[in-house]
Amino acid sequence: MSILFVFPGNESLGASFLKKNPTIVGQMTLHRFPDGENLISIETPVAGQDCIILCTLDRPDEKATALMFMAETLRELGATAVQLIAPYLGYMRQDCRFHPGESITSVIFAKFISTYFDRLITIDPHLHRHKEMSEIYSIPAKVGHAAYKISDWIIENVTDPILIGPDEESDQWVKEVALKVGAPYTVMKKTRYSDTDVRIEIPNIEQYRAYTPVLVDDIISTGRTMIEMVEHLIQAGTKAPICIGVHAVFAGDAYQALKASGAGQIVTCNTIAHESNEIDISEILS
Ligand code: R5P
Repeated sequence: MSILFVFPGNESLGASFLKKNPTIVGQMTLHRFPDGENLISIETPVAGQDCIILCTLDRPDEKATALMFMAETLRELGATAVQLIAPYLGYMRQDCRFHPGESITSVIFAKFISTYFDRLITIDPHLHRHKEMSEIYSIPAKVGHAAYKISDWIIENVTDPILIGPDEESDQWVKEVALKVGAPYTVMKKTRYSDTDVRIEIPNIEQYRAYTPVLVDDIISTGRTMIEMVEHLIQAGTKAPICIGVHAVFAGDAYQALKASGAGQIVTCNTIAHESNEIDISEILS
C-alpha cells in the first residue's frame, strides 16, 4: 500500500480523497523558520514504500522548495518511489516565448518536477501550445478531466444553459461539457493586453437572452476574463451569468471583483481550496 502525505493547505481535498482511497496517511511537519527557510520532518517510516504527496500548485513559488526537500528526504529515507498529485499545476500558461528574452517557465518547471518526482497526476493542466504533457514532462504525467463533474453540476443546477468559453484555448473544456450537458456552446475571441487588461468580443450577444449564460474556463486568476464577459452579457440584458472555473486561483481581490461585476454565481472545482468550491474532483484523482 502507498503512503499519502497531505501537504499543508490540502487537508480538505485530502479528506475527500481518503474517503475513496483508504490508504496509510504519512505524518510530516513543515517548519518555516522566521527567515523564511523550510525544514521538513518525516515522522512515518517510509523505507521500501511508495509515497504520494498531495500538493496543489497554485502560488508554486511558496511550495516548490519545500516539495523538493520533501521528495529528496523521502528518497533518502528509503522510499521506493515518490509521486506528486498536484490537482492544479502552476506555470503551464507560459508555454512559449511571447516576447524576446522571456523564459518559457512551463518547460523549466516541468524539468524541476520531473527531476524530483517519479510520476505526476494532475487535473486539466493548461495544455495549449504544448498539446501533451509528455512534450515537457520526462516522467509519466497523468491528466484527469473535470468536464463530467462540471456537466453534472450544470445539469442539476441550471435551466436552459448556453455554455460560453472566453477564448480558443477554452474550446476543449467548453465543448466537452456542452456535449455532456446537451446544451449549445460557443467560444469567443480574447485579446490580452496586460495581466489585468483583457478584451473579449461577443458577436450577436442578444441571442443569449433566451438562455442562462454559463461561462466556463480552466483558470480564474485575476478574474478579468470572466468579468469582461459578465459585463458584456449583463449590458446586453441577459440573465446573470454563472461563472465556472476548474481552478480557483483568484489573485488578490479577484473573487470580490467578479462577484461585484454581476455574476449570478461563481462555482469552482476543489483543485484549490476556496469558498467557491462546489464541485468535488477527488473521485477523478482516485
Ligand atoms: C488563459 O488562457 C486561461 O485559460 C484563462 O482564461 C486565464 O488564465 C484567466 O485569467 P484571468 O482570470 O487572469 O483573466
